[in-house]
Amino acid sequence: MSQSETNRRIVLASRPKGTPATSDFRFEQVPTPDVPEGSVLLRTLYLSLDPYMRGMMNERAPAYTRSIAIAEVMPGGTVNSVISSGNPRYKNGDLVLGNAGWQEFSVSNGKDLLPLGALDHPSRALGVLGMPSFTAYVGLLDIGQPKPGETVVVAAATGAVGAVVGQIAKLQGARVVGIAGGPDKCSYALEQLGFDACLDHRQPDLGKRLAAASPEGIDVYFENVGGAVFEAVLPRLNVGARIPLCGFVSSYNDENLPPGPNRVPLLQRTLLEKRVRFQGFIILDHYATRFESFRRDMGEWVAKGQVKLREDIVDGLENAPSAFIGLLEGKNFGKLIVRLPTE
Ligand SMILES: NC(=O)c1ccc[n+]([C@@H]2O[C@H](COP(=O)([O-])OP(=O)(O)OC[C@H]3O[C@@H](n4cnc5c(N)ncnc54)[C@H](OP(=O)(O)O)[C@@H]3O)[C@@H](O)[C@H]2O)c1
Repeated sequence: MSQSETNRRIVLASRPKGTPATSDFRFEQVPTPDVPEGSVLLRTLYLSLDPYMRGMMNERAPAYTRSIAIAEVMPGGTVNSVISSGNPRYKNGDLVLGNAGWQEFSVSNGKDLLPLGALDHPSRALGVLGMPSFTAYVGLLDIGQPKPGETVVVAAATGAVGAVVGQIAKLQGARVVGIAGGPDKCSYALEQLGFDACLDHRQPDLGKRLAAASPEGIDVYFENVGGAVFEAVLPRLNVGARIPLCGFVSSYNDENLPPGPNRVPLLQRTLLEKRVRFQGFIILDHYATRFESFRRDMGEWVAKGQVKLREDIVDGLENAPSAFIGLLEGKNFGKLIVRLPTE
């Protein structure tokens, strides 16, 4: 494979105020980096776009991550091919899972790379066989612990995490109600993912429709979005309900807390009266103990067609900023991945 002299990359140009603008990103062309002894030069084939990147763009990033510096390359999980190796563990042409971020070429000493072997669909290492799916697995099975016949509700139901949550819940014998943005996503959740019901959160009266779709109440609510969806779920929780708190993407662009009455007492009363287990988790904490069982189980489920994840593939690194902005507004349909040219 030929090596270009130029590395095209996208850096953080300015910190967003609220919703990011494309001007918060800068496209640059710089020389391809040199490869020190013991390192490898990587070409990015696929770049994962994920909601956590939004927090990293702030000066004060969430505690589990770090703030990206201005002019730093935007971070991100990637599938790469090794195009020049000075490291005996890798040879040219190897496929690896890496953290190259939003750029065409990068250098690694190999320590942060995971060999992928020969995968038919390498992009799956960023989705159904990767971090988002692992998040669904740990959050649902370890915290949500759905039992046969229980009702599981999941929002962002066709997204990378949510689609997998719902399918694992079905495998556990639960009844699954998805909540998604728009009729196409809801049809997909019903017809392709096998959910029992799906509600469009953009339509009015979500609370009433949720009550109709969960006649026996809600035993597990897998929290991905927060906001109005969480408010609709709260009164429907059963005694002993579990809420894996995975994310609250509807607020990631907010600069301040939303105005309105103080809802904390209502939340606390519900958690207490219903003996709810409401537990936040960060997937990085679980690789050492749970990744192997995830790999085994998910590999089997995917091979048997019991779990699938639609990929929303965007071509061209230059389209990453607008695709990322769209992710925070629900414009993606499935796992959002940027595909870069192979040469
Ligand atoms: N705790 C962890 O370690 C961890 C790890 C990975 C991901 N996460 C979290 O998991 C959640 C899902 O992430 P993902 O990667 O799977 O993304 P995703 O679901 O593929 O994409 C984000 C989805 O969120 C929904 N959304 C966006 N803005 C919304 C709004 N204002 N109101 C309601 N829904 C909105 C949209 O779905 P609809 O159009 O269907 O509404 C959008 O497609 C995020 O909160 C993310 O931060 C947490």
